Amino acid sequence: MDTTSLNFPTPKPTDTTCQEVVAELVDVHKSFGQNQVLRGFDLKLYDGENLVVIGKSGSGKSVMIKCLIGLIPADKGKLMVLGKDMLALEGDALNEIRTEIGFLFQGSALYDSMTVRENLEFPMRRHRKKMGRIHNSEELVMEALDSVGLAHTVDMMPAELSGGMQRRVALARTIILRPRIILYDEPTSGLDPITAKEIIYLILEIQKKYKTSSLIITHDMDCARVMANRMIIIIDGVNHAEGTYTELSRSGDPGVQAFFK
Ligand SMILES: Nc1ncnc2c1ncn2[C@@H]1O[C@H](COP(=O)(O)OP(=O)(O)OP(=O)(O)O)[C@@H](O)[C@H]1O
Ligand SMILES: [Mg+2]
Repeated sequence: MDTTSLNFPTPKPTDTTCQEVVAELVDVHKSFGQNQVLRGFDLKLYDGENLVVIGKSGSGKSVMIKCLIGLIPADKGKLMVLGKDMLALEGDALNEIRTEIGFLFQGSALYDSMTVRENLEFPMRRHRKKMGRIHNSEELVMEALDSVGLAHTVDMMPAELSGGMQRRVALARTIILRPRIILYDEPTSGLDPITAKEIIYLILEIQKKYKTSSLIITHDMDCARVMANRMIIIIDGVNHAEGTYTELSRSGDPGVQAFFK
């Protein structure tokens, strides 16, 4: 994707000395049979930053964020979200912390048999308790759709929307519970370059509006350059290198350099 013509400001590096850590993985291991995917992976996500994780296909990026929210059980390690130990939480407490994490899955993953409104209401029904504490649901649905420019699609079915529109609806669904943290798994994959740019813009706008902290997984180096305050490169199941886009692009490490060619 060519984003060079866009006037995105260069993201400032995160000042990690004075910011709160909102999510942390320490020495996380995960294997599927003989396949050792995560072999002691570490990560810290700071409040308000955009942290981009890159790695080859199959390197364990999706597994890593699924472990973080407990969709896949980690074999070993520490997974902390907003100061809570995810492996020690159950039931209501786990549900409560999950409302603080939005997750944009790889692909849009809308429910095909539900309208756009029903898709957006779905997380609210699952997390009634938190929703009970904030506004009425119709207002939230319309505000979330409006922030992705798709208020007019509220009664449509996903099949009636283009791929880019579906991704935007999925983004609206991600923000509806007002999460403090959003995990994006390949937010621009499968989209044409122009639509991909629109999605990047939208994510940056949403970040600003809702002041979320984001963990963004991508193969797309332009997306990384435009979005990252900090980056992590995952190789062989560990955090191989960490730094700003500029720092990593100047690295002499051949494993790191391979991503910048
Ligand atoms: N549920 C599962 N059962 C068995 N193996 C799995 C499962 N989920 C992932 N894997 C394996 O874990 C490894 C990492 O997969 P993962 O989906 O995390 O890769 P990725 O880095 O996200 O790749 P991509 O960039 O293609 O999305 C792969 O070898 C995959 O086959
Ligand atoms: Mg993946």
